[in-house]
Amino acid sequence: MQTLGPFHSITANTAAWTPIGTALATTFKQPPVRARAAPPKPAKHFQASRYMPPEKAEIFKSLEHWATQRLLPLIKPVNQCWQPIEFLPDPAKLSADEFSDRVRALQERTAGLPDEYFVVLVGDMITEDALPTYQSWMNTHEGVRDETGASSSPWAVWTRAWTAEEHRHGDLLKTYLYLSGRVDMLMIDRTVQYLIGAGADVGTDRNPYLGFVYTSFQERATFVTHGNTARLAKEGGDPVLALICGTIAADEKRHEIAYARIVEKLLEIDPNGAMLAISEMMKKKITMPAHLMHDGQDPHLFEHFAAVAQRIGVYTADDYANILEFFIGQWNLEKIQGLEGEARRAQDLVCGLPHRIRKFQERADERAKKLQPRGVNFSWIFNKELTL
Ligand SMILES: [Fe+2]
Ligand SMILES: [Fe+2]
Repeated sequence: MQTLGPFHSITANTAAWTPIGTALATTFKQPPVRARAAPPKPAKHFQASRYMPPEKAEIFKSLEHWATQRLLPLIKPVNQCWQPIEFLPDPAKLSADEFSDRVRALQERTAGLPDEYFVVLVGDMITEDALPTYQSWMNTHEGVRDETGASSSPWAVWTRAWTAEEHRHGDLLKTYLYLSGRVDMLMIDRTVQYLIGAGADVGTDRNPYLGFVYTSFQERATFVTHGNTARLAKEGGDPVLALICGTIAADEKRHEIAYARIVEKLLEIDPNGAMLAISEMMKKKITMPAHLMHDGQDPHLFEHFAAVAQRIGVYTADDYANILEFFIGQWNLEKIQGLEGEARRAQDLVCGLPHRIRKFQERADERAKKLQPRGVNFSWIFNKELTL
């Protein structure tokens, strides 16, 4: 994967097309942060403005049989799912000495991984751990929300099962990070608490068309991210962590397939509405779900984390363009015929976007080369300084 140079400054990563850039743009549109402890607030343009017409909600009612047949089989039965303890030293099955040996071996394996890697893995883990926010958000969407908390609607069944699968991701990464001894768990736990308290507003306006475009993109982004942390763990000498990240990435891939299948179905039955939704999300830009991340110290924590992820090649501006290009191909967006007025223009906009994103990024890279590197301290690694 193509990555950016090692000393790109934070400003260099403000590419407006990237999730990183989106988050930065969001941050910079807010009033300056006065108190160090004040967490970031959502920018105004993410406040709900346009809702889906009620008749569109009926489409999702009519798709319930389809969802049962085509979506629910992508949930894995619980007894076939991996569980975190399978990747961790289990004190119930080991003697005290064996347990200590296994923890020591884990710490020796992670000793070869750089601090930058841990900052990124912690940020990924915190993103996963703010899961209550994502389940709440999924249930904002008209026509697919879980009306009772235990609804038998296939949309609700999916959302609960998806949440239950996702729950293992943060759980496993967090325990592994704790056992590594490389990170400040107090600051990490504080960040998780701040983040769940802050929530997220990614601009889907209760509209499941927008919501499923977002989740398609986001699941693929997490698939890419965890795939890259797996690769770096292997290169850094920890094959167990590589296996963990790769296993999580495989879950994300299955989730991506599910959400992309919904968008594909929407394109089949309502091509104009679906194309407009894809275009609207691309115009809003896909914001990372942890964009309101805060640790009580660094008012620009998310942008700093994202800059490190970009620098070590875990999630880059190029990935954003690649993901969009992938879906243009997957959904055959260039070949859809017979779209009307605005949807036709939306098709042109979306299909031309990867090229524009890359051009924009090239210019941002050129500007970045002229900037001085700077140091940023991360509370998650005991306030050690990293160069960005
Ligand atoms: Fe996940
Ligand atoms: Fe996922």
